[in-house]
Amino acid sequence: MNGKRIVLGITGGIAAYKAATVASRLTQAGADVRVIMTEAATRFVTPLTLQILSRNHVSVDTFDERNPAVVNHIDLADHADLFVIAPATANLIAKLALGLADDMLSTTLLATRAPIVIAPAMNVNMYRNPAVRRNLDELLKRGVFLIEPGVGQLACGYVGEGRMAEPEEIVAWVERFFSRERPLDGKKVLITAGPTLEAMDPVRYISNHSSGKMGFALAEAAREAGAEVTLVSGPVSLDTPPGVKRVDVRSAEEMLEAVLAALPDVDVIIKAAAVADYRPKTTWSQKLKKTADTMVLELVKTADIAAEVGKRKRTDQLLVGFAAETQDLERHARSKLERKGMDLIVANDVTRPGAGFGTDTNIVSVYDRDGLVLSLPQMDKKEVARRLIRLVGERLHAH
Ligand code: PMT
Repeated sequence: MNGKRIVLGITGGIAAYKAATVASRLTQAGADVRVIMTEAATRFVTPLTLQILSRNHVSVDTFDERNPAVVNHIDLADHADLFVIAPATANLIAKLALGLADDMLSTTLLATRAPIVIAPAMNVNMYRNPAVRRNLDELLKRGVFLIEPGVGQLACGYVGEGRMAEPEEIVAWVERFFSRERPLDGKKVLITAGPTLEAMDPVRYISNHSSGKMGFALAEAAREAGAEVTLVSGPVSLDTPPGVKRVDVRSAEEMLEAVLAALPDVDVIIKAAAVADYRPKTTWSQKLKKTADTMVLELVKTADIAAEVGKRKRTDQLLVGFAAETQDLERHARSKLERKGMDLIVANDVTRPGAGFGTDTNIVSVYDRDGLVLSLPQMDKKEVARRLIRLVGERLHAH
């Protein structure tokens, strides 16, 4: 944890007193801990306590700008390696789910791109309230991590779940997070994303519904995991993740060229793109005129980029493919894995709601030559990407 910048958000619940221990342990472990307290939290424990334990100024008021060179909430948001919210009240969880920014903590949370982990603490009936469940589900889908509350005697007199995880548990979670955070440090990763467009004439093409979200999430996760990432993307309307080198292509042929150019230099190739299997045999240089009532378009196969990579890759390179299926997921995916010389294949049934093309979430199963290695329920594509990158890291180290 040495030098890691952790922003510890403390909200107004009785468990705020335990946050003092969290701040103290994280600081002792070498982290640079910056505390943000809500006004309500200061009713339970004083900012001075947290300042002494963290050895840093404690922020409460958004407008308390001490350093004229920076805007405090943006500075904290930009430089955090991790946000820990402990305790997280029902109110903070709701604000985070809705994107409200009406105090220093919620404003900073909205501005950050750092991973966030919350340790909820509240009365058992509040924790089970459908509104809180819905907000938590929303946060989990967005990739926010959750340290589940414990079951036991609550300060309000009830017995049940809602007691904040013990400080030792929270600190252990943070230690685990940082120890596996950069499994691809020093590695080079090539990711393909989006659709390809196969032109008929200057105005028409054949394509598919890929939005690029899955591939872009993978690029971001691989970058966060320490890799140098090249993202070869078909036409999509997504921003390039920070720190990622992007190569834009249109057709399968252009994608093949870009992939083969990068191939010799990379450790991992992840093929999340939905490459067109066929393209029009003829490409007209002028717009085709509407004449007969029907027309026949002759198609020819495109190059299979994954299979080409499978043939050429060195034994120290890891090839991860995707399989977009509408039936018989496992059989088709495993057959593609074998045929294309992949090491892992990520199968998604694109007919399932919440999975496949265009959605923000996915449901995937990962196979290697021996069978199923990972099965993930519906979750945000960013979280799917983080889990896949973690698996890639493990495989690479075992390779
Ligand atoms: O982009 P999103 O909207 O987020 O949607 C995500 C996704 C559904 C596109 C993604 O999760 C996915 O499944 N990508 C692979 C889609 C696909 O083309 O699957 P396939 O089963 O047809 O191909 C199998 C593998 O071969 C894929 O890794 C594909 O990239 C590769 N392939 C296929 C054909 C071809 N000519 N060249 C290839 O390299």
